[in-house]
This record gives sequence, C-alpha cells and structure tokens, in this order.
Amino acid sequence: MMNSRIIGTGGYLPERVMSNQDLEKIVETTDEWIVERTGIKQRHIAAEEQSTCDLAEQAARQAIDAAGIAIDSIDMIIVATTTPDRVFPSTACLLQRRLGIHGCPAFDVQAVCTGFIYGLSVADKFIKTGASKRVLVVGAETMSRIVDWSDRTTCVLFGDGAGAVVLEASDQPGILSTHIHADGQYSELLHVPAGVSFHHAEFKSGKIGIQMQGNEVFKMAVNTLGRIVDETLQENGLDKSDIDWLVPHQANERIIKATAKKLRMPMERVVTTVQTHGNTSAASVPLALNVAVRDGRIQRGETLLLEAFGGGFTWGSALIKY
Ligand code: ACO
Repeated sequence: MMNSRIIGTGGYLPERVMSNQDLEKIVETTDEWIVERTGIKQRHIAAEEQSTCDLAEQAARQAIDAAGIAIDSIDMIIVATTTPDRVFPSTACLLQRRLGIHGCPAFDVQAVCTGFIYGLSVADKFIKTGASKRVLVVGAETMSRIVDWSDRTTCVLFGDGAGAVVLEASDQPGILSTHIHADGQYSELLHVPAGVSFHHAEFKSGKIGIQMQGNEVFKMAVNTLGRIVDETLQENGLDKSDIDWLVPHQANERIIKATAKKLRMPMERVVTTVQTHGNTSAASVPLALNVAVRDGRIQRGETLLLEAFGGGFTWGSALIKY
C-alpha cells in the first residue's frame, strides 16, 4: 500500500492586523485579560473584498510552489472551512477554477476547527487506496464574518487565514495514521445557532454569530485532546518521547500547554502561533505547520503529532513522519 507524504506547505494571513488594543475600543476588555486567559496578542482580519477562497488560493499556490509540481498534476482538492464563500458551489470548486484545474474531484469538509485533520484523513485514505496521487488539502477561514463583534467572550478569540499542504503518493513513510471523531450531543456548547435552513430569518438578518460556553468547551478540549494523544501513540506503538513536534490547533495557549504537559513535552517542541494568529479554526493547524517548516524548526524525518478539537464536537489527530 502507498503512503501519503507532505511535499509542500503554504500559508496566508490577511494584511490587516487587529491587536488587543484595537479590541479594547470595540468591547469592554483589556489586553491583560486576553493575554492571560488565551495567550492571544493579535489576529489577522480579511479585507472587506477578500473571501475565504482568496485566502485559500494564496496558501494553495505557496504549497504548490514549495512542492515544485505542475498545478494540473493535482488530482483531488479538499477545502476544510466553516466559512465558505457561497452556499454553493463549494469553496473547493471555486479554488479549482482559480487554479485552472479541470475534472478532478473537489469538495469541502465541514468539521469546524478539526476540519483540516478531517481533510487530511480523507486525502490519506484516497492515496492509500491508490485512487489519488496528489491531493491539495487546504484549511481556510474568514471567522471574522461569523463572529459577534459585540460579544467580548468570543470576539477576542478568532482570526482569519489559510494554510495548505500538497500530499503525494510515496513508498516512503509519511502520514502514519489519522484519527477522527465527533459527538453531536455537544452541538449547543459551541455553535452559530442559525443557518441556511434553521432559524434562517435570523441568519438572513446577519445578527447572529458564534456562541460558546467557554468553560465547558475548555474542559472538554483538554480532556479529549489528552485521550486522542494516547489513542494515536497506542495505535502506532510509540512512546510520548518519540514525538519530535506537537502541532496543535491554536485555540488557546492554556489548552495547548495542558496537552503538551500530558505529552511531557517542553514548550520548545510545541509549535504555537495563537499569539499572533488567534484561532483561525480549520486554518490553524496547517498555518502552524507551515510556519515551523519554513523557519526550519521541522526537519525531514521528524515525527509530528497534529491535533485539533472544535465545534460539533469534533476532534482528531494525525501522526506524520515528515
Ligand atoms: N474581557 C474581559 N473580561 C471578559 C472577557 C473579555 N474578553 N470575556 C469574558 N470576560 C469575563 C466574564 O464575563 C467573566 O466575568 P464574571 O466573572 O464577572 O462573570 C470572567 O471574565 C471570567 O469568564 P470565564 O468565561 O470564566 O473565563 P475563562 O477563564 O473560562 O476564559 C475563555 C474564557 C478564554 C473563553 C476560555 O473559557 C476558553 O478559552 N475556552 C475554550 C474555548 C475555545 O478556545 N473555543 C474556541 C473554539 S473551540 C476550539 O477551538 C478548541
């Protein structure tokens, strides 16, 4: 059976930076509160005319350049997003058009903050069965469009951005395993309580945004991420000390530190971007991966543990020989 290897990574953050000081002017909050509770100092916000697909395209082109492949050799496109450009077509189809690719399957995956891990898992399965050879997996979000900017308990957390990888079939080790889960019974703890077909009048009014029971989500995230780390290591017969880099979902520095502690991993081996990116949902893991690949921290042959937790609830991990 073929393995799937990451042959290129890319990332894109919109130009506009919104600092905690900027937020102090919008809601009753302070830089101190946000930094102490979340670690976040700033986040990037898409320009009015920029869509999720615009962000996705930039990240995808960078990943394709890094891979050094012809664009038309990509034979599947997966975009993980909670904030698609349109109801339809999928953002993946819009991206396919931008890239000038014709005919290959292209679809979106919706698993909120775990979306990229879900996308990676699907791509890996297609490559392992021989159905695909080169898959573009993108996580892209304009979370600023679904944030309630009058709610200080949520608006300080999120940001916009996109990250991407190109996966290729290889006889060398690559993705060692992926693990994805969901439990819909918790859907009300973190959600946008309206949509195309549910409370659609409120949805159309544009007044509804992300709602979250922060404390509950925090506890669930810490416990669940601890469990998925164990599940991943067990399946691969590996010990905690075999992991070179933890590349976690960037929601909150305190959640990341709790997972690192469970892995007995020093923070120097944990990639954190939450301070400057905020929580970019499905984009956060590929953005963090791209940062650490490009600054030379992550080297070929090293073992990476990617993990995420998000609305649904959904959660997942990927163990990768880079
Ligand atoms: N500025 C100032 N004060 C605030 C703010 C703010 N931005 N937000 C809330 N507060 C106040 C609250 O009103 C509350 O005041 P009170 O005691 O007078 O009622 C006080 O601060 C404490 O609020 P808590 O909600 O208990 O604060 P907590 O320490 O739990 O931190 C936080 C809140 C940061 C949201 C935390 O619960 C958290 O990170 N949860 C995880 C949620 C998350 O990351 N979700 C993202 C999506 S899911 C995922 O990606 C994992």
